[in-house]
Amino acid sequence: MTAARALAASIIDAVSDGQSLTECLETFLPRLKTAKDKAFVQAICYGVCRFYFRLDVLLSYLLEKPMKAKDSDLHALLLVGLYQLMAMRVPDYAAVTETVNATDDLNKAWGRGLVNAVLRRYLRDKEKLETQLDEEVESQYSHPLWWITSMQQAWPDDWEKILIANNSHPPFSLRVNARKKSRDEYLKTLSSLNEVIDIIPELPSGLTISPALPVEELPGFMQGQVSVQDGAAQLAATWLALAPGMRVLDACGAPGGKLAHILEIEPALDKVIVVEKDLKRIESIKENLTRLELNADIHCADAADVNTWWDGKPFDRILLDAPCSASGVVRRHPDIKLLREQRDIAKLAKEQLHLLSSLWPLLSENGILLYVTCSVFPQENEQVLKAFLAAHSDAQEDKIITSIGFSREIGLQILPGELNMDGFYYARLKKIPSLNS
Ligand SMILES: C[S@@+](CC[C@H](N)C(=O)[O-])C[C@H]1O[C@@H](n2cnc3c(N)ncnc32)[C@H](O)[C@@H]1O
Repeated sequence: MTAARALAASIIDAVSDGQSLTECLETFLPRLKTAKDKAFVQAICYGVCRFYFRLDVLLSYLLEKPMKAKDSDLHALLLVGLYQLMAMRVPDYAAVTETVNATDDLNKAWGRGLVNAVLRRYLRDKEKLETQLDEEVESQYSHPLWWITSMQQAWPDDWEKILIANNSHPPFSLRVNARKKSRDEYLKTLSSLNEVIDIIPELPSGLTISPALPVEELPGFMQGQVSVQDGAAQLAATWLALAPGMRVLDACGAPGGKLAHILEIEPALDKVIVVEKDLKRIESIKENLTRLELNADIHCADAADVNTWWDGKPFDRILLDAPCSASGVVRRHPDIKLLREQRDIAKLAKEQLHLLSSLWPLLSENGILLYVTCSVFPQENEQVLKAFLAAHSDAQEDKIITSIGFSREIGLQILPGELNMDGFYYARLKKIPSLNS
Protein backbone atom coordinates (compact mmCIF):
# COMPACT_ATOMS: atom_id res chain seq x y z
CA MET A 1 0.00 0.00 0.00
CA THR A 2 2.88 2.35 -0.70
CA ALA A 3 0.88 4.60 -3.01
CA ALA A 4 -1.79 4.87 -0.32
CA ARG A 5 0.68 6.31 2.20
CA ALA A 6 2.03 8.85 -0.30
CA LEU A 7 -1.53 9.87 -1.07
CA ALA A 8 -2.29 10.24 2.64
CA ALA A 9 0.79 12.47 2.93
CA SER A 10 -0.40 14.63 0.01
CA ILE A 11 -3.79 15.02 1.69
CA ILE A 12 -2.25 16.00 5.04
CA ASP A 13 0.08 18.40 3.23
CA ALA A 14 -2.94 20.06 1.55
CA VAL A 15 -4.85 20.28 4.85
CA SER A 16 -1.79 21.83 6.57
CA ASP A 17 -1.92 24.36 3.74
CA GLY A 18 -5.50 25.34 4.56
CA GLN A 19 -7.74 22.97 2.56
CA SER A 20 -10.59 21.08 4.15
CA LEU A 21 -10.11 17.37 4.81
CA THR A 22 -13.53 16.49 3.40
CA GLU A 23 -12.75 18.26 0.12
CA CYS A 24 -9.26 16.74 -0.11
CA LEU A 25 -10.62 13.24 0.45
CA GLU A 26 -13.21 13.81 -2.27
CA THR A 27 -10.47 14.92 -4.68
CA PHE A 28 -7.75 12.41 -3.85
CA LEU A 29 -9.49 9.16 -2.86
CA PRO A 30 -10.81 8.34 -6.36
CA ARG A 31 -7.15 7.88 -7.36
CA LEU A 32 -7.07 4.66 -5.32
CA LYS A 33 -8.50 1.48 -6.79
CA THR A 34 -9.71 -0.57 -3.86
CA ALA A 35 -12.19 0.19 -1.10
CA LYS A 36 -9.65 -1.21 1.36
CA ASP A 37 -7.00 1.33 0.29
CA LYS A 38 -9.55 4.15 0.45
CA ALA A 39 -10.61 3.16 3.97
CA PHE A 40 -6.95 2.90 5.03
CA VAL A 41 -6.08 6.38 3.73
CA GLN A 42 -9.20 7.86 5.25
CA ALA A 43 -8.40 6.35 8.64
CA ILE A 44 -4.81 7.68 8.51
CA CYS A 45 -5.91 11.17 7.46
CA TYR A 46 -8.57 11.49 10.16
CA GLY A 47 -6.12 10.13 12.72
CA VAL A 48 -3.27 12.45 11.71
CA CYS A 49 -5.59 15.48 11.86
CA ARG A 50 -6.94 14.36 15.23
CA PHE A 51 -3.44 14.00 16.67
CA TYR A 52 -1.66 16.55 14.48
CA PHE A 53 -0.50 18.74 17.34
CA ARG A 54 0.90 15.75 19.22
CA LEU A 55 2.57 14.21 16.16
CA ASP A 56 4.07 17.52 15.08
CA VAL A 57 5.73 18.08 18.46
CA LEU A 58 6.87 14.45 18.43
CA LEU A 59 8.44 14.97 15.02
CA SER A 60 10.25 18.07 16.25
CA TYR A 61 11.86 15.89 18.96
CA LEU A 62 13.00 13.42 16.34
CA LEU A 63 14.38 15.78 13.70
CA GLU A 64 17.75 17.40 14.10
CA LYS A 65 16.53 20.47 12.21
CA PRO A 66 13.06 21.47 10.98
CA MET A 67 12.08 20.42 7.43
CA LYS A 68 12.30 23.06 4.72
CA ALA A 69 8.98 24.51 3.48
CA LYS A 70 9.51 22.90 0.04
CA ASP A 71 9.56 19.49 1.75
CA SER A 72 6.21 19.89 3.46
CA ASP A 73 5.08 16.67 1.70
CA LEU A 74 7.87 14.73 3.37
CA HIS A 75 7.00 16.37 6.68
CA ALA A 76 3.42 15.13 6.15
CA LEU A 77 4.69 11.64 5.26
CA LEU A 78 6.66 11.51 8.51
CA LEU A 79 3.46 12.36 10.43
CA VAL A 80 1.68 9.60 8.49
CA GLY A 81 4.46 7.17 9.47
CA LEU A 82 4.44 8.19 13.13
CA TYR A 83 0.65 7.95 13.35
CA GLN A 84 0.74 4.35 12.10
CA LEU A 85 3.31 3.43 14.75
CA MET A 86 1.53 5.37 17.47
CA ALA A 87 -2.09 4.39 16.92
CA MET A 88 -2.74 1.92 14.11
CA ARG A 89 -2.73 -1.83 14.08
CA VAL A 90 -0.22 -1.96 11.20
CA PRO A 91 2.79 -4.11 12.17
CA ASP A 92 5.78 -1.84 12.94
CA TYR A 93 8.04 -3.35 10.25
CA ALA A 94 5.36 -2.88 7.56
CA ALA A 95 4.62 0.69 8.64
CA VAL A 96 8.32 1.61 8.49
CA THR A 97 9.11 -0.17 5.19
CA GLU A 98 6.04 1.07 3.36
CA THR A 99 6.43 4.64 4.61
CA VAL A 100 10.08 4.64 3.54
CA ASN A 101 9.03 3.32 0.11
CA ALA A 102 6.39 6.05 -0.19
CA THR A 103 9.20 8.63 -0.52
CA ASP A 104 9.63 7.32 -4.10
CA ASP A 105 5.99 8.12 -4.90
CA LEU A 106 6.57 11.67 -3.67
CA ASN A 107 9.69 11.88 -5.87
CA LYS A 108 11.72 12.38 -2.72
CA ALA A 109 13.80 9.20 -2.72
CA TRP A 110 16.59 11.19 -1.03
CA GLY A 111 14.37 11.16 2.08
CA ARG A 112 14.44 7.35 2.50
CA GLY A 113 17.23 7.43 5.06
CA LEU A 114 15.63 10.28 6.98
CA VAL A 115 12.20 8.60 7.18
CA ASN A 116 13.77 5.32 8.18
CA ALA A 117 15.88 6.95 10.91
CA VAL A 118 13.01 9.03 12.35
CA LEU A 119 10.55 6.13 12.52
CA ARG A 120 13.10 3.72 13.99
CA ARG A 121 14.16 6.25 16.57
CA TYR A 122 10.54 6.66 17.62
CA LEU A 123 10.19 2.89 18.02
CA ARG A 124 13.38 2.72 20.06
CA ASP A 125 12.53 5.62 22.42
CA LYS A 126 8.72 5.37 22.31
CA GLU A 127 8.05 5.29 26.05
CA LYS A 128 10.33 8.19 26.90
CA LEU A 129 9.00 10.30 24.03
CA GLU A 130 5.34 9.65 24.86
CA THR A 131 5.97 10.70 28.48
CA GLN A 132 7.68 13.86 27.25
CA LEU A 133 4.67 14.64 25.02
CA ASP A 134 2.37 14.54 28.03
CA GLU A 135 4.36 17.26 29.73
CA GLU A 136 3.07 20.07 27.45
CA VAL A 137 -0.67 20.75 27.10
CA GLU A 138 -0.48 21.35 23.34
CA SER A 139 0.91 17.88 22.66
CA GLN A 140 -0.93 16.24 25.56
CA TYR A 141 -4.37 17.31 24.28
CA SER A 142 -3.40 17.75 20.63
CA HIS A 143 -4.93 21.20 20.14
CA PRO A 144 -3.40 24.59 19.30
CA LEU A 145 -2.30 26.43 22.41
CA TRP A 146 -4.62 29.43 21.82
CA TRP A 147 -7.58 27.03 21.66
CA ILE A 148 -6.62 25.29 24.90
CA THR A 149 -6.19 28.63 26.67
CA SER A 150 -9.61 29.83 25.44
CA MET A 151 -11.24 26.63 26.67
CA GLN A 152 -9.52 26.92 30.06
CA GLN A 153 -10.85 30.46 30.43
CA ALA A 154 -14.38 29.73 29.19
CA TRP A 155 -14.83 26.33 30.80
CA PRO A 156 -12.59 26.16 33.91
CA ASP A 157 -14.21 22.93 35.14
CA ASP A 158 -14.78 21.23 31.80
CA TRP A 159 -11.98 22.28 29.43
CA GLU A 160 -10.15 18.97 29.75
CA LYS A 161 -13.31 16.96 29.11
CA ILE A 162 -14.01 19.09 26.02
CA LEU A 163 -10.54 18.59 24.56
CA ILE A 164 -10.64 14.84 25.20
CA ALA A 165 -14.10 14.59 23.62
CA ASN A 166 -12.82 16.52 20.58
CA ASN A 167 -10.21 13.81 20.03
CA SER A 168 -12.68 10.95 20.26
CA HIS A 169 -14.55 9.19 17.47
CA PRO A 170 -18.03 10.59 16.78
CA PRO A 171 -21.15 8.49 17.22
CA PHE A 172 -23.36 7.56 14.28
CA SER A 173 -26.66 9.27 14.99
CA LEU A 174 -29.83 9.12 12.96
CA ARG A 175 -33.12 10.96 12.65
CA VAL A 176 -36.14 8.96 11.64
CA ASN A 177 -38.47 10.81 9.25
CA ALA A 178 -41.61 11.26 11.37
CA ARG A 179 -43.71 11.65 8.22
CA LYS A 180 -42.84 8.10 7.19
CA LYS A 181 -42.12 6.06 10.32
CA SER A 182 -42.00 6.25 14.08
CA ARG A 183 -38.70 5.56 15.77
CA ASP A 184 -40.05 2.27 17.14
CA GLU A 185 -41.12 1.17 13.67
CA TYR A 186 -37.72 2.09 12.25
CA LEU A 187 -35.88 0.23 15.02
CA LYS A 188 -37.55 -2.99 13.83
CA THR A 189 -35.97 -2.58 10.38
CA LEU A 190 -32.42 -2.40 11.75
CA SER A 191 -30.24 -5.45 11.53
CA SER A 192 -29.41 -7.23 14.75
CA LEU A 193 -25.77 -6.44 13.86
CA ASN A 194 -26.41 -2.82 14.75
CA GLU A 195 -26.50 -2.13 18.41
CA VAL A 196 -28.69 0.82 19.44
CA ILE A 197 -26.54 2.90 21.76
CA ASP A 198 -28.71 5.82 22.72
CA ILE A 199 -32.23 7.05 22.59
CA ILE A 200 -32.48 10.60 23.92
CA PRO A 201 -35.92 11.22 25.48
CA GLU A 202 -36.10 14.83 24.21
CA LEU A 203 -35.59 13.58 20.66
CA PRO A 204 -38.65 11.58 19.60
CA SER A 205 -37.03 10.61 16.30
CA GLY A 206 -33.35 10.36 17.25
CA LEU A 207 -31.17 7.34 17.84
CA THR A 208 -27.50 6.41 17.81
CA ILE A 209 -26.33 3.09 16.44
CA SER A 210 -23.03 1.28 16.23
CA PRO A 211 -21.18 0.45 14.09
CA ALA A 212 -21.59 3.25 11.54
CA LEU A 213 -22.77 2.23 8.08
CA PRO A 214 -22.37 3.78 4.66
CA VAL A 215 -25.68 5.62 4.16
CA GLU A 216 -26.62 3.44 1.17
CA GLU A 217 -26.65 0.46 3.53
CA LEU A 218 -28.95 2.12 6.07
CA PRO A 219 -32.39 0.52 5.84
CA GLY A 220 -34.85 2.96 4.24
CA PHE A 221 -32.26 5.67 3.54
CA MET A 222 -32.97 5.94 -0.18
CA GLN A 223 -36.72 5.87 0.56
CA GLY A 224 -36.30 8.91 2.84
CA GLN A 225 -37.14 7.07 6.05
CA VAL A 226 -34.01 8.16 7.84
CA SER A 227 -31.21 10.76 7.78
CA VAL A 228 -27.83 11.02 9.45
CA GLN A 229 -27.87 13.85 12.00
CA ASP A 230 -26.29 14.42 15.37
CA GLY A 231 -28.61 14.52 18.38
CA ALA A 232 -27.71 18.10 19.35
CA ALA A 233 -28.61 19.29 15.84
CA GLN A 234 -32.01 17.61 16.20
CA LEU A 235 -32.89 19.90 19.08
CA ALA A 236 -33.28 22.86 16.70
CA ALA A 237 -36.58 21.80 15.14
CA THR A 238 -37.81 20.59 18.55
CA TRP A 239 -37.02 23.92 20.26
CA LEU A 240 -38.54 26.07 17.51
CA ALA A 241 -42.00 25.32 18.98
CA LEU A 242 -43.61 24.95 15.55
CA ALA A 243 -47.36 24.96 14.93
CA PRO A 244 -49.62 24.56 11.89
CA GLY A 245 -49.99 27.62 9.66
CA MET A 246 -46.68 29.24 10.58
CA ARG A 247 -44.30 30.98 8.18
CA VAL A 248 -40.79 29.74 8.86
CA LEU A 249 -37.38 30.98 7.73
CA ASP A 250 -34.24 28.85 7.80
CA ALA A 251 -31.64 31.55 7.21
CA CYS A 252 -28.44 29.54 6.70
CA GLY A 253 -29.77 26.31 5.38
CA ALA A 254 -27.31 23.98 3.66
CA PRO A 255 -27.12 21.02 3.64
CA GLY A 256 -30.67 21.16 4.96
CA GLY A 257 -30.57 18.81 7.95
CA LYS A 258 -32.48 21.10 10.31
CA LEU A 259 -34.72 22.32 7.49
CA ALA A 260 -35.79 18.75 6.67
CA HIS A 261 -36.43 18.04 10.33
CA ILE A 262 -38.68 21.14 10.57
CA LEU A 263 -40.69 19.91 7.57
CA GLU A 264 -40.84 16.35 8.92
CA ILE A 265 -42.26 17.23 12.32
CA GLU A 266 -44.77 19.93 11.27
CA PRO A 267 -46.36 19.05 7.91
CA ALA A 268 -48.98 21.83 8.11
CA LEU A 269 -46.71 24.89 8.02
CA ASP A 270 -47.93 27.70 5.77
CA LYS A 271 -44.57 28.38 4.12
CA VAL A 272 -40.94 27.47 4.66
CA ILE A 273 -38.23 29.59 3.08
CA VAL A 274 -34.59 28.54 3.16
CA VAL A 275 -31.70 30.84 2.30
CA GLU A 276 -28.15 29.70 1.57
CA LYS A 277 -25.44 31.82 0.06
CA ASP A 278 -23.21 29.08 -1.36
CA LEU A 279 -24.55 27.95 -4.74
CA LYS A 280 -22.77 24.57 -4.57
CA ARG A 281 -24.32 23.86 -1.19
CA ILE A 282 -27.80 24.66 -2.55
CA GLU A 283 -27.52 21.35 -4.40
CA SER A 284 -27.15 19.50 -1.10
CA ILE A 285 -30.42 21.07 0.14
CA LYS A 286 -32.20 19.99 -3.04
CA GLU A 287 -30.83 16.44 -2.82
CA ASN A 288 -31.93 16.07 0.79
CA LEU A 289 -35.41 17.45 0.19
CA THR A 290 -35.89 15.27 -2.89
CA ARG A 291 -34.83 12.11 -1.08
CA LEU A 292 -37.11 12.91 1.86
CA GLU A 293 -39.98 14.02 -0.43
CA LEU A 294 -40.20 17.45 1.21
CA ASN A 295 -40.60 20.97 -0.18
CA ALA A 296 -39.37 24.46 0.64
CA ASP A 297 -38.75 27.74 -1.23
CA ILE A 298 -35.02 27.83 -1.80
CA HIS A 299 -33.11 31.11 -2.28
CA CYS A 300 -29.43 31.42 -3.07
CA ALA A 301 -28.55 34.70 -1.37
CA ASP A 302 -26.80 36.35 1.52
CA ALA A 303 -29.49 36.07 4.18
CA ALA A 304 -28.41 39.41 5.68
CA ASP A 305 -29.06 41.12 2.36
CA VAL A 306 -32.82 40.80 2.89
CA ASN A 307 -33.87 43.04 -0.01
CA THR A 308 -32.56 40.46 -2.48
CA TRP A 309 -34.80 37.60 -1.38
CA TRP A 310 -37.50 38.58 1.16
CA ASP A 311 -41.12 38.98 0.00
CA GLY A 312 -41.90 41.41 2.84
CA LYS A 313 -44.14 39.05 4.84
CA PRO A 314 -43.00 38.51 8.45
CA PHE A 315 -41.99 35.09 9.80
CA ASP A 316 -43.42 33.42 12.90
CA ARG A 317 -40.24 31.44 13.35
CA ILE A 318 -36.67 32.10 12.27
CA LEU A 319 -33.89 29.57 12.57
CA LEU A 320 -30.48 31.21 12.42
CA ASP A 321 -27.98 28.36 12.33
CA ALA A 322 -25.12 30.77 11.97
CA PRO A 323 -21.79 30.17 10.24
CA CYS A 324 -19.33 29.53 13.07
CA SER A 325 -15.96 28.08 14.04
CA ALA A 326 -17.49 24.57 14.19
CA SER A 327 -15.46 24.09 17.37
CA GLY A 328 -18.24 21.86 18.76
CA VAL A 329 -17.95 19.31 15.95
CA VAL A 330 -14.20 18.67 16.00
CA ARG A 331 -14.87 14.95 16.57
CA ARG A 332 -16.40 14.84 13.08
CA HIS A 333 -14.04 17.35 11.45
CA PRO A 334 -10.66 17.11 13.21
CA ASP A 335 -9.05 19.28 10.50
CA ILE A 336 -10.85 22.26 12.09
CA LYS A 337 -8.06 22.35 14.66
CA LEU A 338 -5.56 22.98 11.85
CA LEU A 339 -7.69 25.30 9.78
CA ARG A 340 -9.08 27.66 12.40
CA GLU A 341 -7.05 30.62 13.63
CA GLN A 342 -7.64 32.61 16.79
CA ARG A 343 -8.44 35.78 14.84
CA ASP A 344 -11.27 33.94 13.00
CA ILE A 345 -13.40 33.90 16.14
CA ALA A 346 -13.80 37.70 16.35
CA LYS A 347 -14.53 37.85 12.59
CA LEU A 348 -17.19 35.15 12.92
CA ALA A 349 -18.76 36.91 15.92
CA LYS A 350 -19.09 40.09 13.84
CA GLU A 351 -20.75 38.16 11.01
CA GLN A 352 -23.10 36.39 13.45
CA LEU A 353 -24.21 39.68 15.02
CA HIS A 354 -24.71 41.18 11.56
CA LEU A 355 -26.92 38.24 10.48
CA LEU A 356 -28.91 38.37 13.71
CA SER A 357 -29.49 42.13 13.45
CA SER A 358 -30.41 41.94 9.75
CA LEU A 359 -32.94 39.14 10.24
CA TRP A 360 -34.60 40.46 13.39
CA PRO A 361 -36.88 42.93 11.55
CA LEU A 362 -38.30 39.96 9.58
CA LEU A 363 -39.71 38.34 12.72
CA SER A 364 -43.38 38.93 13.55
CA GLU A 365 -44.46 40.25 16.95
CA ASN A 366 -44.49 37.37 19.47
CA GLY A 367 -42.44 35.43 16.93
CA ILE A 368 -39.46 33.31 17.94
CA LEU A 369 -35.92 33.35 16.59
CA LEU A 370 -33.70 30.41 17.47
CA TYR A 371 -29.99 31.23 17.32
CA VAL A 372 -27.77 28.17 16.94
CA THR A 373 -24.07 27.51 16.50
CA CYS A 374 -21.97 24.37 16.70
CA SER A 375 -19.36 26.34 18.61
CA VAL A 376 -18.12 26.21 22.18
CA PHE A 377 -16.49 29.66 22.11
CA PRO A 378 -18.59 32.12 24.18
CA GLN A 379 -17.53 34.94 21.80
CA GLU A 380 -19.71 33.34 19.11
CA ASN A 381 -22.52 32.51 21.48
CA GLU A 382 -23.66 34.34 24.60
CA GLN A 383 -21.43 37.34 23.81
CA VAL A 384 -23.14 37.82 20.43
CA LEU A 385 -26.54 37.49 22.10
CA LYS A 386 -25.60 39.94 24.84
CA ALA A 387 -24.52 42.57 22.32
CA PHE A 388 -27.69 41.97 20.31
CA LEU A 389 -30.06 42.21 23.28
CA ALA A 390 -28.35 45.40 24.48
CA ALA A 391 -29.16 47.02 21.12
CA HIS A 392 -32.72 45.68 20.65
CA SER A 393 -35.30 46.66 23.24
CA ASP A 394 -37.98 44.62 21.44
CA ALA A 395 -36.05 41.37 21.96
CA GLN A 396 -36.09 39.20 25.05
CA GLU A 397 -34.80 35.77 25.84
CA ASP A 398 -37.39 33.00 25.79
CA LYS A 399 -35.61 30.50 28.05
CA ILE A 400 -35.47 26.93 26.80
CA ILE A 401 -36.62 24.64 29.58
CA THR A 402 -34.58 21.45 29.42
CA SER A 403 -32.26 19.29 31.45
CA ILE A 404 -29.81 19.22 28.54
CA GLY A 405 -26.70 21.43 28.48
CA PHE A 406 -25.33 24.19 30.69
CA SER A 407 -27.54 27.20 31.22
CA ARG A 408 -25.51 30.33 30.37
CA GLU A 409 -26.17 34.00 31.11
CA ILE A 410 -28.11 33.88 27.84
CA GLY A 411 -28.94 30.59 26.12
CA LEU A 412 -27.53 27.16 26.80
CA GLN A 413 -24.44 25.27 25.81
CA ILE A 414 -24.17 21.59 25.06
CA LEU A 415 -20.56 20.51 25.34
CA PRO A 416 -19.20 17.86 22.95
CA GLY A 417 -19.74 14.40 24.39
CA GLU A 418 -22.78 15.28 26.56
CA LEU A 419 -25.28 12.46 25.97
CA ASN A 420 -22.96 11.44 23.11
CA MET A 421 -23.90 14.64 21.24
CA ASP A 422 -21.89 17.31 19.43
CA GLY A 423 -21.19 20.68 21.02
CA PHE A 424 -23.97 23.17 20.22
CA TYR A 425 -25.14 26.52 21.55
CA TYR A 426 -28.83 27.50 21.54
CA ALA A 427 -30.56 30.76 22.43
CA ARG A 428 -34.23 31.47 21.85
CA LEU A 429 -35.44 35.05 21.44
CA LYS A 430 -38.95 36.40 21.39
CA LYS A 431 -40.13 39.65 19.81
CA ILE A 432 -42.03 41.82 22.27
CA PRO A 433 -45.08 43.47 20.66
CA SER A 434 -44.76 47.24 20.35
CA LEU A 435 -47.00 49.30 22.70
CA ASN A 436 -49.00 50.90 19.89
CA SER A 437 -49.88 47.63 18.16
C1 LIG B 1 -23.94 25.75 10.10
S1 LIG B 1 -24.23 25.62 8.40
C2 LIG B 1 -25.95 25.33 8.35
C3 LIG B 1 -26.35 23.89 8.56
C4 LIG B 1 -27.81 23.66 8.26
N1 LIG B 1 -28.67 24.52 9.02
C5 LIG B 1 -28.20 22.21 8.52
O1 LIG B 1 -28.73 21.92 9.58
O2 LIG B 1 -27.99 21.38 7.64
C6 LIG B 1 -24.18 27.29 7.91
C7 LIG B 1 -24.53 27.52 6.45
O3 LIG B 1 -24.74 28.92 6.28
C8 LIG B 1 -24.24 29.31 5.03
N2 LIG B 1 -24.03 30.76 5.14
C9 LIG B 1 -23.01 31.43 5.69
N3 LIG B 1 -23.21 32.74 5.66
C10 LIG B 1 -24.42 32.93 5.09
C11 LIG B 1 -25.19 34.07 4.76
N4 LIG B 1 -24.75 35.29 5.05
N5 LIG B 1 -26.38 33.89 4.16
C12 LIG B 1 -26.83 32.65 3.86
N6 LIG B 1 -26.13 31.53 4.12
C13 LIG B 1 -24.95 31.67 4.73
C14 LIG B 1 -22.99 28.47 4.85
O4 LIG B 1 -22.64 28.37 3.48
C15 LIG B 1 -23.44 27.14 5.45
O5 LIG B 1 -23.98 26.31 4.47
